[in-house]
Amino acid sequence: MVEHSSSESQSLKKSKNIWLKNKLNSVKVSLYRCLWLSIILLFQIVVLNFVLGAPSKSISINTQILQETVMPLPSLQSNQCQSGMVYVYDLPVMYNKELIDNCHDLDPWHSRCNAVSNDGLGPITAGLSDGMPENLAPAWYWTDMLSSEIIYHARILKHKCRTTEPELATAFYIPFYAGLAVAKYLFTNYTAKERDWHSEMLLKWLQDQPYWKRANGSDHFIMLGRVTWDFRRSNDEDWGSSFIHMPLMKKILRLCIERDQWDHLEIGVPYPTGFHPKSKSDLDQWLNFVQTRKRRSLFTFVGAKRKVKSDFRSILLSHCYNESESCRVVDCAGTRCYDGTWEILEAFLDSDFCLQPRGDTYTRKSMFDCMLAGSIPVFFWKRSIYDQYQWFLTDEPENFSVFIDRKDVRNGVSIKKVLEGYNMEQIRRMREKIIEFIPRFVYSYMGSDETGNKNDAFDLAIDGVLNRFKEEKRSHNAQLKEE
Ligand SMILES: *[C@@H]1O[C@H](CO)[C@@H](O)[C@H](O)[C@H]1NC(C)=O
Ligand SMILES: *[C@@H]1O[C@H](CO)[C@@H](O)[C@H](O)[C@H]1NC(C)=O
Ligand SMILES: *[C@@H]1O[C@H](CO)[C@@H](O)[C@H](O)[C@H]1NC(C)=O
Ligand SMILES: *[C@@H]1O[C@H](CO)[C@@H](O)[C@H](O)[C@H]1NC(C)=O
Repeated sequence: MVEHSSSESQSLKKSKNIWLKNKLNSVKVSLYRCLWLSIILLFQIVVLNFVLGAPSKSISINTQILQETVMPLPSLQSNQCQSGMVYVYDLPVMYNKELIDNCHDLDPWHSRCNAVSNDGLGPITAGLSDGMPENLAPAWYWTDMLSSEIIYHARILKHKCRTTEPELATAFYIPFYAGLAVAKYLFTNYTAKERDWHSEMLLKWLQDQPYWKRANGSDHFIMLGRVTWDFRRSNDEDWGSSFIHMPLMKKILRLCIERDQWDHLEIGVPYPTGFHPKSKSDLDQWLNFVQTRKRRSLFTFVGAKRKVKSDFRSILLSHCYNESESCRVVDCAGTRCYDGTWEILEAFLDSDFCLQPRGDTYTRKSMFDCMLAGSIPVFFWKRSIYDQYQWFLTDEPENFSVFIDRKDVRNGVSIKKVLEGYNMEQIRRMREKIIEFIPRFVYSYMGSDETGNKNDAFDLAIDGVLNRFKEEKRSHNAQLKEE
């Protein structure tokens, strides 16, 4: 499980330094002077000792002084947190840790203990598919697509701009695993009350907190590891919990894997894929691998038929089977597409394009698996990509994906013909774009900050939140001034 109070004193030091930044800047000059004087002094002592053969004791004393003089310098870097600092609530364990501890009981059918292991990354894959750079094996996990709440919690506790002093914070993170808490109650005949229980208790707890009252939650945020539609029940009989509709949620910013495009308090963040690079070199190797990969199929479809009327996936599957020269099928009927197989990733690695119909909702984790393999996603619903992940895929969707209207496909338009209409140069350009985005949508291995990928999906999400709160505060203050 995640560590709940890591490096408190260090964070504290950083916090204070933000506060004192201006003063410290002037102190900085004198510190440097001090440092130089100490070095010169030390040098003289060393030389004198050498010449006079004095005992070495005096050297060690002076080294100690030197170190003390130098110590404050590194934390001057705290201007890294120009957009402010984040405070992470230490919630009662029933809202996070206890859910993980009861992982065998998180859904009605299976144990989720594997899914929630390794701070949400899941089990390590132990080996890779043939042809993949072998030394990247430690960077691959069977990551569950619904585990972001744990990943974000673990990462934010180690964030460079975390403070343990709420007084210094401009953002408050609520590490409540709302998706994990509700999963068990979604599918079977639980009552509305049961589905809302954790959320209601959490909000009751929250509203008694002093820093909640200060702004009624408008400087608070949360990560939801399931799609937003799982938290938007309006009638007791409908699907999901009603968490997002609860009055106390009205101002809280939400990061989630699929957002409601009309809700300005919601930010779409990438689904976690299985790749968690531990260093810059891991990442570069992977990018080079997918860029130079020889692809034998024009396109691929990974998915299964559904038992619904005029099922769109059945059409894609049929089209793909009919065009077997250019389309690679991974038919997920049965259990073939569960974690523990490389077949899906291999299909993406082998294809220029991948078909991405909507799933139960508009988005799919599969679109990120596809792009991670350097394959170009083909969408049939605009809402699968438009207004969804703009902080991460910072370009017009036309520049890195293909859109074919599902109605045209139903009316007999050949996907193969449409895709054959793209020339090598166009494909190359779209792939370049996707490769540019990979570092922005993967979740690096935790603690790889030093050497690794600094602006991964998590970092971008938190920077985005901090910037947004800062901007809101600025415009709020400007308004007050005008009045
Ligand atoms: C849920 O379903 C089970 C079996 O289908 C039934 O025995 C039980 O009474 C139901 N519970 C509720 C709250 O409807
Ligand atoms: C918070 O909400 C309460 C009740 O709506 C209101 O009375 C209070 O003024 C609000 N406080 C702030 C800081 O907006
Ligand atoms: C695939 O081929 C079969 C047999 O020719 C045909 O009936 C079906 O409509 C084709 N599917 C698509 C999506 O074109
Ligand atoms: C999309 O690509 C075109 C052509 O390369 C480019 O001119 C345009 O600026 C791109 N759009 C964005 C938002 O970057």
